[in-house]
Parts: sequence; C-alpha cells; structure tokens
Amino acid sequence: MGIHILALFGSPRRGGNTDILMEELLNGISRDGGIDITRIYLCDYDIKPCKACAYCEIHGECCIQDDMCKIYPLLDRSQIIIVSSPVYFFGLSAQCKTMIDRCHIIWARKFVLNEPWSEDDEMVRQGFFISAAGTNNPSLFYGGEMTIRNFFDCLDILYQGAIMVRGVQEKGEVRKKVNALKNAYNKGVELVNPY
Ligand SMILES: Cc1cc2nc3c(=O)[nH]c(=O)nc-3n(C[C@H](O)[C@H](O)[C@H](O)COP(=O)(O)O)c2cc1C
Repeated sequence: MGIHILALFGSPRRGGNTDILMEELLNGISRDGGIDITRIYLCDYDIKPCKACAYCEIHGECCIQDDMCKIYPLLDRSQIIIVSSPVYFFGLSAQCKTMIDRCHIIWARKFVLNEPWSEDDEMVRQGFFISAAGTNNPSLFYGGEMTIRNFFDCLDILYQGAIMVRGVQEKGEVRKKVNALKNAYNKGVELVNPY
C-alpha cells in the first residue's frame, strides 16, 4: 500500500504564496511517483467554529455536521500531513485555525475519554508547516508555528519543520525567492525518503 499525503491549504487567496510553496513541496514529494496526495483547500470547505459545547468530551463525536466530517478520516489515514497558512495578525488564517479548533474532538478522545483517536494506533505520522508573511518582523511566525506544533502534538504527528518566508506581500511574490522554492522542493523529497 502506498503512502497517503494530506495537504491542507490554509490561505483564502488561491494561487498565492503559501499555495506556491506547498506545490513546490508536493513536487518534491511526488518526484519518484507512487504517492497519493489529497489536496484540501480549506477556503472551499464549510467548516464552522468549535462552540465549546463539550459534546465531544462526552460522546467522542462532534455535534456539528459539516465539511469537517470529510477531513477527520483524511487526518486518520495520512502518513504525512502538511498545513499551510499565511500569517494573519501574527497568527494563522481563520480557515486554518477553525479546522484546528475542530480537532478538539481528538484532544477530547485522548485526554478526556482515554480512547485512541485513530483507527490505526501504530501509524507514524509526520507533519510539516508552510507559511508566508508580508513584512520582515523577526517574530512573525512565532504564534502560527506554536499553534501548529501544538496541533501536531495533539494528533501524535511528529513535527518535521517548516518553510516560512518573510517579505512576500503580493500574490505570487514568493516566486522571486528561488532559495525558498528550492528548499520546499528538497524538503518534499526528504519527507518521503524514509518510506
Ligand atoms: C487579514 C490579513 C492579515 C495579515 N496579517 C499580516 C501580519 O500580521 N504580518 C505580516 O507580515 N503580513 C500579514 N499579512 C500579509 C500576508 O501574510 C502575506 O500577503 C502572505 O504572503 C499571504 O500569503 P498567501 O498569498 O498564501 O495568502 C496579512 C494579510 C491579510 C489579508
């Protein structure tokens, strides 16, 4: 059985800087073929915010029936999960953060109900983060990366690092950052190498 990759695109600006970096990474991942990649553009998904109703802490299920129901099984079956998000107000995009908050159900299964969250307890999952920001502030990525690390920790996904590019405000500007694109490609090759 081949490996499954889940690419969660967090920008509402389709074809923008984080999408471009993600595609470079995916090009590296698929260099040698035989890889099953699922691309999810979160902005096209109807995902409502967690309302902290605690239903999942009792029932192990979320009471909100929306497109998040399509993403839970993909998180479960994928060996490599890549999340991209632009920096918005020093954090993640709303699309990305809303998806992450809805994974409270996974936290609840693990830490409140003491149940495995996954159908495959043995599966080793790796995670990677991609981000871009318009300015050059040194602490731009702290908030977003911390949230991503915590999200991956909750799902027992091993954090394999990030590609975070500053100073790219306009759509597609990241194409000028040749080294960042190369890094993304090479990281993609590396990520699938152990399989
Ligand atoms: C709502 C919003 C908030 C933003 N906040 C920041 C910010 O706090 N710091 C920053 O450097 N850039 C900020 N930006 C700029 C984006 O991070 C930048 O344009 C990035 O390249 C967008 O990535 P994308 O093309 O993948 O959407 C913001 C843009 C928007 C639309």
